Amino acid sequence: MPIAEALPFPTTLPRGFAHLPSEPVFDPARHLALEMPETRTSLADLGYGADEIATCPSDLGITSPFRVLSDEGAACMLEVARLLSVHATSNFRIERMVRGGAYRSRFLRDLSLSPDVSDWIAQIFGAPVLPHSIPHQLGHLNYNPERVGTNVDKWHTDTLRIDYVMFVTDPRGVKGGEFQYFRGTKHEMKALADAGKPIPADRIVSPTLPGPGYAVLQQGNMVVHRARGLTEPAERITMVNGYVPGEIVFPYFTRYDQLYLVDPRHVVTEEYTRHVAWMGREILRHRLDHPSYSEDRSAEVASFERLSTLFAAAANEIRNANEAHAEHFGDGE
Ligand SMILES: [Fe+2]
Repeated sequence: MPIAEALPFPTTLPRGFAHLPSEPVFDPARHLALEMPETRTSLADLGYGADEIATCPSDLGITSPFRVLSDEGAACMLEVARLLSVHATSNFRIERMVRGGAYRSRFLRDLSLSPDVSDWIAQIFGAPVLPHSIPHQLGHLNYNPERVGTNVDKWHTDTLRIDYVMFVTDPRGVKGGEFQYFRGTKHEMKALADAGKPIPADRIVSPTLPGPGYAVLQQGNMVVHRARGLTEPAERITMVNGYVPGEIVFPYFTRYDQLYLVDPRHVVTEEYTRHVAWMGREILRHRLDHPSYSEDRSAEVASFERLSTLFAAAANEIRNANEAHAEHFGDGE
């Protein structure tokens, strides 16, 4: 299967973004302490059928917690997250978050783009991955709401396929604030939400994160998850880093309509356009590099149709962005 060449991070900053004047420099040798998760919950374990799993780049649902950062790396990440907190904004799901931090922090950018980490994530995921080609899908930071009890993030699936959720602050000793996922499919969750039924407590899983710098990896558009509110005042910060499948046959999944509701208007469309153009480039590059000299015309028809579907769908999404409604499954227990 052809593997895409990563899209370089933009060399110019969007209007309104500036680099932090002072911050730690990311050093993979000192800041990473990558470990493998002990267990892996598959999409089938969550209840997805073979047809739906076949459209996904891996059968992974979600892993048990694994270590990403060393103690020193976690301390640097916390320092950077605190420096970035002045840029926190709200959206319909999350009360305090920083997106686009990879434009402001070189540390966050370099950690998010680290090939050591993405190669490791690919091993865990079970398929090639690349750091996400949309910069706002890199290094997303969630901060605890000011008010105790308010959920950090409501039940939802992600606007991207592959991401890890890493604790930046130490989750030990903090009351509440758990990362939780639903042991079921997004279709079951939608049926529960539509019927106004509570989520059965025995289907909510709260993995124990052993410390700062530990993460879970999930196929985020398939696993329904949330971050619970704190029950006592404390600092709670998590970082979510996104990846795209490395195999160019799978890359098309981005909820641009939802991103349009969240990210700066002068950035979101440029990022999405660049992402789609990159996918097109990779498909064309692969085609140009591999002459077929075949009498089989159907492969060429399929190849052009795939490209035109990709671009037409993107054009439609951009045209209709204003019509999107905010999607989530609420705060239900
Ligand atoms: Fe999420």
